[in-house]
Amino acid sequence: MTTTCFTRPAFKSRVVPVIVIKDPAHAVPLAHALLEGGIDVMEITLRSGAALQAIEAVARAVPEMHTGAGTVTRAAEVQQVIDAGAGFALSPGCTDGVFEAVRSARLPFIPGVMTPGEVMRWRDEGFSLMKLFPALQAGGLGMLQALGAPLPDVRFCPTGGVSPANLRDFLRLPNVAMAGGSWLTPADALANGDWTRITALAREAIELSNKP
Ligand code: 3PG
Repeated sequence: MTTTCFTRPAFKSRVVPVIVIKDPAHAVPLAHALLEGGIDVMEITLRSGAALQAIEAVARAVPEMHTGAGTVTRAAEVQQVIDAGAGFALSPGCTDGVFEAVRSARLPFIPGVMTPGEVMRWRDEGFSLMKLFPALQAGGLGMLQALGAPLPDVRFCPTGGVSPANLRDFLRLPNVAMAGGSWLTPADALANGDWTRITALAREAIELSNKP
């Protein structure tokens, strides 16, 4: 196993906000709002021009937040997110190029998968924590249960279609380590700087994730 494969991330939260930040000035107050609600991890996606600046701002100003880079789909982006200060990265899928880049940089990484063959491909490289994306479209709870039978040594972070309505069902599965989604950071709440609402969403998610 390489240091790029991590099975037990350092963050405590089993809920991972998938974030699109348009204004880098929102990054630090957002990090504080999530921490206030009990979430100590952010997946800041490379889906906006502000993403790298946002990662940098949180990594520098909020050290207790575990700052991950999401939507890392090209090998060249790996060094960019490391330079910005990301502590780990996730991808919606994984290519040989992205894998080689995270391995040589020793960046902790959660590869995205959607089929048993992809799970087997990245398990061969030492990964035992993967992102199931898009989780609902891939079959949701039933898909995860089905994957767990032949591939019980792999755990997942389902993302895509996760919401407060199904979060507990996902987290109750034995092969689900954590779940991610964009519902925690709605675009209008970010645009309006409505940090109270984001803290409330985070708190609700943490309460759901703590329920047996
Ligand atoms: C992701 O990149 O993980 C997804 O776009 C998040 O999906 P959601 O918007 O359905 O939560």
